[in-house]
Amino acid sequence: QSGLITLDVGYKNTGATTSEVTFLDGEKGILRYRGYSIEELAEKSTFLEVAYLLIHGELPTKDQFDKWGHEITMHTLLHEDMRKIFDGFPTSAHPMGVLSSLVSSLTAFYPESLDPNRSPDGVNLTITRLMAKIPTIAAWSYKNEMGHPANYPDNSKSYVANFLWMMFGMRTMQYEPDPVIVDALDKLLILHADHEQNCSASTVRIVGSSQASLYVSVAAGINALWGRLHGGANQAVIEMLEQIKADGGNVDKFIAKAKDKDDPFRLMGFGHRVYKNFDPRARIIKAACDNVLEKLGVHDSTLEIAKKLEEVALNDEYFVKRSLYPNVDFYSGIIYRAIGIPTDMFTVMFALGRLPGWIAQWKEMREENQPIGRPRQIYTGHNLRNYVSMNER
Ligand code: SDX
Repeated sequence: QSGLITLDVGYKNTGATTSEVTFLDGEKGILRYRGYSIEELAEKSTFLEVAYLLIHGELPTKDQFDKWGHEITMHTLLHEDMRKIFDGFPTSAHPMGVLSSLVSSLTAFYPESLDPNRSPDGVNLTITRLMAKIPTIAAWSYKNEMGHPANYPDNSKSYVANFLWMMFGMRTMQYEPDPVIVDALDKLLILHADHEQNCSASTVRIVGSSQASLYVSVAAGINALWGRLHGGANQAVIEMLEQIKADGGNVDKFIAKAKDKDDPFRLMGFGHRVYKNFDPRARIIKAACDNVLEKLGVHDSTLEIAKKLEEVALNDEYFVKRSLYPNVDFYSGIIYRAIGIPTDMFTVMFALGRLPGWIAQWKEMREENQPIGRPRQIYTGHNLRNYVSMNER
């Protein structure tokens, strides 16, 4: 055990790896996927194209993109036996638990994914299957929760429109996804697609570093994302805004609670480990909120509360001194709700967006043959002591 161990609980300042996938600068509020700015990609690209860029490292040519889209479309169906797994969940099951369980179960239906020495083509097939099937699993987890019959994928639809069809389509009536909703969701998925070594991406990496399969590495990432300090915050933000609304919209009272060390209440959707000025994604999403809600003719009073909360917090010394600003989760739920996504599906949407980033980082880690992740610790427990029999304790 030579050498000093540097204690860094929560990895607040530890470089766990090198990576070429995503660059972010917390001071300047910069976020780039493979060198392209998030602002430009959100404006000019599509989620499926951004997914290709993250996973394969370059923007695709038309032929590459058409092939990518076709292969994904051809794999959207789940094995029919997976329906039995859905049937085993009560309608009260949180969709994130269903999602991680069903993603793990893909190893049972595609056992070749377990081979750590699979050919690059084999790995790409595993990646295609995951990109293709996760929207189906997510939509079917929602249908299971609603007690509605599942909608099978419609291969004539785009990636996002197909997801919305599987979510909201009913056999008893015509449903065509509104292009405004498709565009808004596509943009949100782009903004969530990767974020360097966040909690869930680091989880995917460390699980994958033991040569576990992509499916179970991503399932682990889904579970890490579920926590309310991470991706689960988008659901917690809406619940917090509803709580403030129910309390008469008194934001000052909740700002005071968030500042009170003895009160466990935190301003959900505020603060970030890396961004210490602003989260560029929050800026884009906030601007999109007004646009989408206006186009959809939706008035959501929680948006006014959110804006008021941001205004008061950003003029409060407690938040400014700690560099606490709105993060990606603060406004995203307002758009999800406006397009009809139920609150407990918000973090599932985050997972759908983050999937290509998890895949890109798992692929990078495995192609570099990185060693198994195994952090050390500083022991602070008992020194050696002898066993005492039960009747002497
Ligand atoms: C995501 O890492 C990523 O990139 C994540 C993500 C991604 O794309 O993958 O960006 C997605 O997870 C965004 C974050 C979503 N989580 C929330 O919105 C939950 C609320 N935020 C916090 O719990 C917190 O800000 C974190 C978890 C986001 C960051 O926590 P840190 O970096 O460990 O900071 P900290 O907890 O040490 O806080 C520093 C100080 C503390 O006060 P002091 O001890 O210095 O007096 O700021 C306070 C904290 O009490 N603080 C807050 C607060 N966040 C931090 N006080 C009130 N409300 C808050 N939200």
